[in-house]
Amino acid sequence: MSDYDNLVADTKATLGRIVLEFSPAVFASSLAAEDMVLTDMILRSGLPIGIFTLETGRLHAETLGMLDTIKEKYAYDVECFRPDPAAVDAYVNDHGLNAFYDSIDLRKQCCGIRKVEPLGRALAGKLAWVTGQRRSQSATRTELPVQELDAAHGMTKFNPLADWSEADVWKYIRDNEVPYNPLHDRGYPSIGCAPCTRAVEPGEDVRAGRWWWENADTKECGLHMVDGKLIRIKSTT
Ligand code: ADX
Ligand code: SF4
Repeated sequence: MSDYDNLVADTKATLGRIVLEFSPAVFASSLAAEDMVLTDMILRSGLPIGIFTLETGRLHAETLGMLDTIKEKYAYDVECFRPDPAAVDAYVNDHGLNAFYDSIDLRKQCCGIRKVEPLGRALAGKLAWVTGQRRSQSATRTELPVQELDAAHGMTKFNPLADWSEADVWKYIRDNEVPYNPLHDRGYPSIGCAPCTRAVEPGEDVRAGRWWWENADTKECGLHMVDGKLIRIKSTT
C-alpha cells in the first residue's frame, strides 16, 4: 500500500476504534476541507459519531452553505451550536461588534463567547471528541498527537488527520468527490469566522489569513487550548 493508502486506512481504523471504545463521541466540524474528509468517512460508513458545528454568527455565507450541501449529498443534518445571545449582546454593547481587532484579550473574549462556551455544551456527556486538526497546519500544532487527553473538557480528544498533509486532504477530496467550501478555490486554505479570515497569496503559510494581525503563536481560538496554554498530555494507549 502507498503511504497515502496507509494514512486513509489508519484514519478509518481510528474512527472505528473511537466508536467501539469511546461512544458517545462527537466530531467538531468547521465545515472546511479537513473536516469534510472526516465527514465523508463518518457518513459514508454510517459511523455513530454525531457531527456538529459551532455556528458563531460570523461565518461566511459559503461556509453556512455547506450545511445544505452536506444535507443534499449525505442526507445528514449537522447539529448547530450557537452562542448565548445575552453574552453576545453584552460584548457588542460593551466593546463593539468588531472589537476583536483591538486587542488579543478582546479577540479571545469573542472566541470565548462565540466558540468555546458553545463547545462546552456540544461536548457535555460525551466520552470523546474528534477534530480535523493537522500537525503541519501551524506553529502551534507541531506536537499534535492522534489521541490526547483534553483536561479542560475531561475527555479524550482525537485528531485522526494529525499525520495528513494538505496534499493528502485534497487527494482524498478529489478521489472521493467530496464536496468542499467554495472559498478554498478563492485563496482561503484555512477558514474561520468571516471578519477574522482572509485570502492568502500563493506560497504563503496556510494559516496566514487567520487573525492575520496577530503573531503566529497566539493564533488559536481557545477550542484547542487548556487554561490559555497549549498543554498536550499524550494518552498512554
Ligand atoms: S481554529 O482553532 O484555528 O479555529 P481550525 O479552523 O484550524 O481551528 O480548525 C481546527 C479544528 O477545530 C477543526 O478541524 C474542527 O475540528 C475544529 N473547529 C474549528 N472551528 C470550528 C467550528 N466553527 N465548529 C466546529 N469545530 C470547529
Ligand atoms: Fe469572534 Fe473572530 Fe473568534 Fe469568530 S474568530 S469568534 S469573530 S474573534
